[in-house]
Amino acid sequence: MNEFLTTKLKSLNMALSGFLLSFEIFWKIKNLKPIKNFRKTNIRLDAFENSILESLNKDGVAVTNIENFSPALLDDLVRWKNEIQHNRRSSLIKDFLIYFIGGSYKSEKQQFEELNPLISFSIDKSLLNIINSYLGMWVNLIYLEMNETKIIDKSEPLKKSQKFHRDPGINSCIKVFIYLNDVEEGGGPFTYVKGSHRYGKYWKFCKQRFFGAGGSYPDLDQLSEKVNKNDIWEIYGSAGSVIIADTTGIHSGGNSFKKIRQMTTSLYYPPGDPLKSKITCNFDIESLELNECQHFALCRK
Ligand SMILES: [Fe+2]
Repeated sequence: MNEFLTTKLKSLNMALSGFLLSFEIFWKIKNLKPIKNFRKTNIRLDAFENSILESLNKDGVAVTNIENFSPALLDDLVRWKNEIQHNRRSSLIKDFLIYFIGGSYKSEKQQFEELNPLISFSIDKSLLNIINSYLGMWVNLIYLEMNETKIIDKSEPLKKSQKFHRDPGINSCIKVFIYLNDVEEGGGPFTYVKGSHRYGKYWKFCKQRFFGAGGSYPDLDQLSEKVNKNDIWEIYGSAGSVIIADTTGIHSGGNSFKKIRQMTTSLYYPPGDPLKSKITCNFDIESLELNECQHFALCRK
């Protein structure tokens, strides 16, 4: 390689390192307090939490069961779903889904008049320990969803989140899903490309968008060329399966060809991200006796 090219490459490398360094500094400043809070509490994860964190760090996704958080919670969630049947509405944005809760992050404010099982689960201490440890800071719970897929014909073109994509975010974000019914092949499984999260082997493929509600969508031919098919994980599971995923990694979901899927979503972002909480609780939060980290997740705006 000639000297001119070597010098150019070196300066390009230095500029890139400078950019990455300034990004790291910018991100730390934007999240100074949540990072400090997380470090100050110096939590010790138990064996279960550690195994989930390990999978998240390695693959960007982890699967467990709701019973590991709270044994009665699945029944509570299903009962609550039946109680809020009157909320059922089709989505204009994603016409392959019927929503019980959520469905329009951009325009919706979520007001809850009483505590419900999805909020209880979403601020579970153990769950927050895992998410906060993954992101290295206290996070905000920003949005909740409960939806049901519609059965579509396999020949129909895939739309929106049915296609592989990355969710937007300055850095990473976490979505936690609970299957409310058994999900098998053709039943709308959440699908994740293992290693497509930040620092994973596919991170550089199809960069995520920093801002906006829409994500970035990889070219499918390139995806099948660059990604080992063994790393594409269609996640099947019984009712009560819990999926914790960094959805700035490549994923898709909602493709029900045989059977519907009912699922909840809890969405968490670092407080420094432009995507903010849409959740307001119009009930006595103080009576819940939350610890500081739980309170921060639910109430910080
Ligand atoms: Fe997504």
